Amino acid sequence: MELHVVSHPLVEHKLTVLRDKNTPSNTFRELISEIVMLEAYEATRDLLLEDKPIETPVAPMVGKQIAPPRPMIVPILRAGLGMLDGMMKLLPTAEVGFLGMKRDERTLDIITYANRLPDDLTGRHVFLVDPMLATGGTLVAAIHYLAERGAREITCIDVLAAPEGLKRLEQEVNPDVNFKVVVAAVDDHLNEQAYIVPGLGDAGDRLYGVVD
Ligand code: URA
Repeated sequence: MELHVVSHPLVEHKLTVLRDKNTPSNTFRELISEIVMLEAYEATRDLLLEDKPIETPVAPMVGKQIAPPRPMIVPILRAGLGMLDGMMKLLPTAEVGFLGMKRDERTLDIITYANRLPDDLTGRHVFLVDPMLATGGTLVAAIHYLAERGAREITCIDVLAAPEGLKRLEQEVNPDVNFKVVVAAVDDHLNEQAYIVPGLGDAGDRLYGVVD
């Protein structure tokens, strides 16, 4: 597993506002979108290119474009939806699949409650987006799900990660998968409720409000 922590003054500044418990939902949503764009710039560095002959107003030339097949963005519902807009702005030609996974707050088991993905992901570069890499349980399950459909190039973009979750990914993700994690920061630890500390609280609730 390759870990990339995006270290940039803009990211650090935006992250501090995002973490602040007094930041309202509308600002929180805006910041998540901006941070994911800055992360996506790094996360898409390995995308394959192909030649594209064009004519400028001055002369013909051979430019570059992202090679097929189209990359796939997969937000993990619900909090991952908050990152979709920013990802699509940077990768407008990508397709989008959805994976609904949530943690049972009592047992901490991962439940898949929705999916809308192609059956065959062979050859596709998949960008899995979820703001919080906490225990790693959701991501391990999601990567397993994508790998079963043939994906071998998976980049996970999170805003914050806990060392516990990163360790679990390292241990449990199938070594056949070329797997990269891009985060804005690695925090200190998980608390007994599996929240990231200092973190930013429940990302889904802060984006969309408390539903249960
Ligand atoms: N999910 C969240 O939304 N926040 C955490 O701190 C951990 C998991």
